[in-house]
Amino acid sequence: MAKQLLPWTYLLLSLAAAEQPSAPKPVAAPMRSLPWGQLNFLQTTDTHGWHAGHLQEPQYSADWGDYISFAEHMHRKADEIGADLLLIDTGDRIEGNGLYDASSPKGQYDYDIFKEQDIDVICTGNHELYQADAAAREYTKTVPNFKGKYIASNLDYILPETGERIPMAQRYRTFTTKNQGIRVLAFGFLFDFTGNANNTVVQPVEKTIEEKWFQEAIREDVDLFLVIGHVTLHGPEYKAIFKAIRSQKWDTPIQFFGGHSHIRDFAKYDSKAYGVQAGRYMETIGWMSIDGIKGKGKKDDPKEIELRSSMSFQRRYIDNNLFGYRYHTGLNESTFPTEHGQNVSAAIYKARKALKLDNSYGCAPRDLWMSRTPYPGDNSLYTWLEKEVLANVAIKPERKDTPRLVIFNTGSMRFDIFKGPFTRDSTYIVSPFVGTLKYIKDVPFKAASEVLPLLNSGGQIFDSAELQMWQLAPPEKLSIHSDFIGPQMPLQDSFVSSAGQRPLLSSSPDLVPGYTTKDDAGDDGDDTLHTPITFYKIPNCIQSSVSMPANGDPETVDFVFIDFVQPWILTALRFTGQVYNDSSVEEYRPEAFTDLMAGWIKENWKKNCKN
Ligand SMILES: *[C@@H]1O[C@H](CO)[C@@H](O)[C@H](O)[C@H]1NC(C)=O
Ligand SMILES: *[C@@H]1O[C@H](CO)[C@@H](O)[C@H](O)[C@H]1NC(C)=O
Ligand SMILES: *[C@@H]1O[C@H](CO)[C@@H](O)[C@H](O)[C@H]1NC(C)=O
Ligand SMILES: *[C@@H]1O[C@H](CO)[C@@H](O)[C@H](O)[C@H]1NC(C)=O
Repeated sequence: MAKQLLPWTYLLLSLAAAEQPSAPKPVAAPMRSLPWGQLNFLQTTDTHGWHAGHLQEPQYSADWGDYISFAEHMHRKADEIGADLLLIDTGDRIEGNGLYDASSPKGQYDYDIFKEQDIDVICTGNHELYQADAAAREYTKTVPNFKGKYIASNLDYILPETGERIPMAQRYRTFTTKNQGIRVLAFGFLFDFTGNANNTVVQPVEKTIEEKWFQEAIREDVDLFLVIGHVTLHGPEYKAIFKAIRSQKWDTPIQFFGGHSHIRDFAKYDSKAYGVQAGRYMETIGWMSIDGIKGKGKKDDPKEIELRSSMSFQRRYIDNNLFGYRYHTGLNESTFPTEHGQNVSAAIYKARKALKLDNSYGCAPRDLWMSRTPYPGDNSLYTWLEKEVLANVAIKPERKDTPRLVIFNTGSMRFDIFKGPFTRDSTYIVSPFVGTLKYIKDVPFKAASEVLPLLNSGGQIFDSAELQMWQLAPPEKLSIHSDFIGPQMPLQDSFVSSAGQRPLLSSSPDLVPGYTTKDDAGDDGDDTLHTPITFYKIPNCIQSSVSMPANGDPETVDFVFIDFVQPWILTALRFTGQVYNDSSVEEYRPEAFTDLMAGWIKENWKKNCKN
């Protein structure tokens, strides 16, 4: 008995200060406060399993339990001042962190942790739908966990038993807010995604808005339309929804919440319609406040009309750390954590232990960045992958001397590697996907060598909806494919800053590097003042050449690639005049690429592993 109680007691003690015990302490920085209105929102999006927070970056080190404590205090404050607070999540909760990916089945602990937050309106992302088992868990776990709150405006599920196609959840939701009595009608959309497994159906947004239920919903008499979605704010889907609502309601306020491209973003559609998007990976909590929606009085009351004509919409991007949470709530180390928040932090700790996420595989000898240093370069994650990893793990024993080209899409890597311990968790953070290496034998070298430039020039040969180029690169790159240049992605071609600097090293005593967002409302959105970080362009795909002859080109090569890119590879080869199809493709390595990479790290980084 006592033996069983001990670890738990230890846990509660060690977590008295909340966040994960190994999380770095948050750093004090100059702050902007949160503007409150009648109706306020907290948003998470694209958390990708990072519910333990960032254990190597102090600026984002609060965990899901801390966010629960934060929301509890903010709810109390809302009640005190008679305002309302709603919580939103816009999907991609899974894939990208050991807390979700390291268990079998995946998400064994993560769904139970996530559901502890009281979210008012929630929808799917594309990641919930890539794998059939994940989509099934969305239906059997997340939808019931957020019963009445989960909205699936353009998503259907196919029941495995009967093959029947049904809405994943309700198409929309209407409710009245607790303190201000604001009547809200909420939708929950996914962008026009086509890469889903065959047990869901994503209906294009433009088609959905012609449906009877939608046309009826936008004619309802409400005080606010709330459109949440795993949809970029400046893309065509939200433009279409905005137009549809405005065609019926020229004056009703509309609040959009977006996701998917991993950036902090804000959009103005008209003077009463705005959108916000809260970044990625539990780095950012979005804050939105709206004033002047309506009073409790009559709608044609002159005071009412005056109030509504002076509406204001204000946004903030909150860095997810305890320093900021305490600042915004006016609480301190001992008064901030709530019992519920601490319980969830403890559950996260327990899950991480059970999943052995802190098991060290080796020590990274230097920082390796996706886009904070130029590619190619010594600190580029992709140069490392190309020169060190792929060149050494893309080996098929019986064909090890055959010249080969190995193609890998940059979007298969999801995060930077920091100098220092590389753990089981880091493996899933960097490479969460289950893809394997495939190949086509004896492809004429000339044709094979034309594929990479085709994939990176992105273009017209990939004209089907299924082969959009954005799918090859990390989502952050979306902001440069759209007509909108992402605010915190000032992409540079040239090398301007010194390579390999620590991410959060101070360059002045007060400011730490971090997000310096510029959006439709200006440059005062971030709650924390930072010095800017420079980002560089990366290609859609990289290529490693292995076992090439010392002189001249080979006649043919084994053309190796990560399975995700197969449809693009076949299309590109066809363009060069080489006709292959799915049956030309064979297994190159049986293991998931992630395991090959972890194997290389265990082998090659172990000797650096003494502090
Ligand atoms: C979906 O794909 C799986 C695996 O490829 C297959 O076994 C199944 O029959 C497909 N289901 C439908 C409804 O097409
Ligand atoms: C935190 O605030 C409470 C209430 O204001 C106060 O009693 C306590 O001493 C503070 N604790 C710390 C560690 O500052
Ligand atoms: C926190 O956990 C304890 C111990 O399991 C439990 O008794 C308590 O009800 C929980 N509190 C909340 C608010 O979840
Ligand atoms: C693929 O190509 C081979 C040889 O060119 C052909 O025999 C086969 O029928 C094709 N398979 C499909 C599925 O089109």
